[in-house]
Amino acid sequence: MKLGWSHTVLNIKDKEKILDFYVDTLGFKISDSGPVFENGPEIIFISYDPNEHHQLAFVLGREDLNSSTALNHISFRVESYAELKQIKDKFDAIDHEYMPLCHGNALSFYFNDPENNGMEIFFDTPWDVEQPQGEPWDPELDEKEALDWVEKTFKNKPGFILRDESTKEFVNR
Ligand SMILES: [Fe+2]
Repeated sequence: MKLGWSHTVLNIKDKEKILDFYVDTLGFKISDSGPVFENGPEIIFISYDPNEHHQLAFVLGREDLNSSTALNHISFRVESYAELKQIKDKFDAIDHEYMPLCHGNALSFYFNDPENNGMEIFFDTPWDVEQPQGEPWDPELDEKEALDWVEKTFKNKPGFILRDESTKEFVNR
């Protein structure tokens, strides 16, 4: 099993200042933005890499700039569904809590490390879809059942497309 680095999500307070810095100064492109869930806080995704929907994302709602509460989560990719199952088995064996959440483009587990740092491990689905999206999924499903469920659940969402066909246009959506 191998975990590949994917992205970090930070909680932020001042969207304008943050985007001035990361987009205007550092040159990241905004790949998507929207409420994390209905009536939830806004999330803004940025990336340099067309193969990575977001290298960084920001969730609005950070209150205190003096405390170290900026980390929302760090995220790793596994290359196979079997590896996601291995994670599940390890967590089940030690009774470590995790939340299975599907973004349409990824099947994820969200969880905390032993010091409550937020983490995500995910497996890419074959599809892209506008973000943010999130539906709980059943990690007991096998790979085919899980992907069938993803397709059925997200195919009518905006921007749903097989990743190969998507021509990597997300950076200027
Ligand atoms: Fe994430």
